[in-house]
Amino acid sequence: MGHEIMTTTETTTPTSLQPLDETGRAVLFTEARTANSFAPTPVGDEELSQIWDLAKWAPTAANFQPLRVLYVRPGEGRDRLVAHMSDGNKAKTASAPAVAVLAVDTAFHEHVPDLLPFRPELKDVLAADDEMRETSGMFNATLQAGYFILSVRAHGLAAGPMKGYDSAGVDAEFFPDGRWRTILIVNIGHPGENPWFGRLPRLDESDVVRWA
Ligand SMILES: Cc1cc2nc3c(=O)[nH]c(=O)nc-3n(C[C@H](O)[C@H](O)[C@H](O)COP(=O)(O)O)c2cc1C
Repeated sequence: MGHEIMTTTETTTPTSLQPLDETGRAVLFTEARTANSFAPTPVGDEELSQIWDLAKWAPTAANFQPLRVLYVRPGEGRDRLVAHMSDGNKAKTASAPAVAVLAVDTAFHEHVPDLLPFRPELKDVLAADDEMRETSGMFNATLQAGYFILSVRAHGLAAGPMKGYDSAGVDAEFFPDGRWRTILIVNIGHPGENPWFGRLPRLDESDVVRWA
């Protein structure tokens, strides 16, 4: 998959190649926090749609876009989900006015002819190669999950990502046909009472960055 696959006949001119100001950086990164409790303030379906509509623009390999989103609202759906959360996460999800169950579409390659029209044959390459399909699906869906969290923040909402749940239970409950597989659950809403844990340290540049 070289650069040639990115050649298209369409040309678009980016209008926004400029640095995000300090406020924007604070909203997305430096002051954004992981919420552990939520206020009852509702989050509307329109707002939830917009979160996806923004996140979808961030890049994936060969434009695969394998992430899928199930929005769960308060009521019967949320009760069904809470039952599969680990004990430490149950109260968090029970207080969230919206929850996104992020999943990978294990048959994401079906969309390749539409998403990558100049390499439609990649669909068959992926269909024939289980390892490539699974690795690529998981990697790119996980990347998109990160974009999704940032999009929640970009909408002025707090996200609470969680890996602590019974994946087999969530999949059986919400995706019984087996095509979507849960990768991350994200509580979404306005922060509630005592929503933050203490800020944990981040690694120093010297531990993380090398130069060549
Ligand atoms: C992939 C992922 C899985 C996480 N799983 C859980 C979880 O199961 N339960 C929980 O309480 N927090 C969970 N967290 C929250 C992290 O502990 C938290 O985002 C991190 O410590 C940073 O906190 P901060 O944004 O307030 O600085 C998870 C976060 C991520 C990104």
